[in-house]
Amino acid sequence: MRKKVLVTGGCGFIGANFVRIALQSRPEWEIVNLDKLTYAGNLANLKDIQDKPNYHFIHGDICDQELVQKLFRDHAINTVVHFAAESHVDRSITGPEAFIQTNIQGTFVLLETARKEWLENTNGISEHRFLHVSTDEVYGSLGETGYFREDTCYDPRSPYSASKASSDHIVRAYHHTYGLPTLLTNCSNNYGPYQFPEKLIPLIMNNALTGKPLPVYGDGKNVRDWLYVQDHCEAILEVIERGTLGESYNIGGHNEKQNIEIVRLLCDMLDEKVGPCHTGKPRRDLITFVTDRKGHDRRYAIDAGKIEAQLGWTPKFTFEQGIDKTVDWYLENREWLEGVMDGSYQQYYQTMYGNR
Ligand code: NAD
Ligand code: TYD
Repeated sequence: MRKKVLVTGGCGFIGANFVRIALQSRPEWEIVNLDKLTYAGNLANLKDIQDKPNYHFIHGDICDQELVQKLFRDHAINTVVHFAAESHVDRSITGPEAFIQTNIQGTFVLLETARKEWLENTNGISEHRFLHVSTDEVYGSLGETGYFREDTCYDPRSPYSASKASSDHIVRAYHHTYGLPTLLTNCSNNYGPYQFPEKLIPLIMNNALTGKPLPVYGDGKNVRDWLYVQDHCEAILEVIERGTLGESYNIGGHNEKQNIEIVRLLCDMLDEKVGPCHTGKPRRDLITFVTDRKGHDRRYAIDAGKIEAQLGWTPKFTFEQGIDKTVDWYLENREWLEGVMDGSYQQYYQTMYGNR
């Protein structure tokens, strides 16, 4: 059966990388990208593939039940890869409502539509798949030791992670109760091209390039487990094609770093690649310790043993390779970064499709 894939949130960071990689490696797929184009959605992320005949962009909200149902019917959707979300912890602290709406209600609308269209209206669904893309943050915070495994109890601690945990539970319930063919992935922190410069790595890149202070929360010793986005996307492809229905897979890169290590590394890489900043001083001088994030999780680290044992997936890129490619990408795509920073990226829609 030809895969007719509804990708949600395909204009965001991971979604755009996924759409590009999927169209390259699975040219027979048809992809429908449903994206609301919030501040995090950027049509320019997929500029190079927007005219492909097997790619369709739909501007809309995953909470819009009528629209979602129409897309399932018009495109005979048999696969869902669900990325759309409000994704930034800091924003969830200052404004949690959109997180509850999109991450919980939006996921519910997608699941309910899949249930009705696939289980009630279709005869054979053996190859249908609903993959929900989630985060390791649902597991809470680790101490100095230990790893998140698939059987680690959920203990979300920010409005963002609580909304993702909630949607994960609803996904599982739809498998258990209705037999919906679901798959769930919980991934660690991603980095790479097209990441919105509110997240640590692109924010530091942007500030370090423009000579602004580099804000490090608290003591800078919080640990994240970094994975190059291409590796995440390839893991998702494996799970869609070979994952066991109803199960979840942790995805991670075995790349634990303290935030301060990342910030210092980026400073040194930029000094080396483009010379010191306008003051003539090393970029490390821009590092500024600021008030800690409320409820800041101390450490995340993934045990990715299950996906390796069952599906043979391991990351292709070491952290050194991934971060080098990422820094080069931001240096070669200054226009993209500037367009996001000055807000002009939001006009791209009008240029392409007229007034909203
Ligand atoms: P992002 O914020 O860069 O992109 C989110 C995309 O979703 C945007 O294009 C936005 O316009 C779209 N969107 C938001 N609300 C929508 C709605 N109501 N209807 C339709 N589209 C909507 O996010 P990202 O970093 O690419 O993350 C994608 C997914 O992966 C999220 O579900 C996130 O929880 C998960 N995840 C992210 C990371 C990470 O490190 N970034 C790690 C693990 C899991
Ligand atoms: P972030 O990229 O927001 O991802 P998450 O909170 O989902 O892990 O932040 C990564 C880490 O970097 C986190 O511990 C918070 C920290 N951080 C800073 O120290 N300064 C910053 O300006 C940002 C955005 C994050």
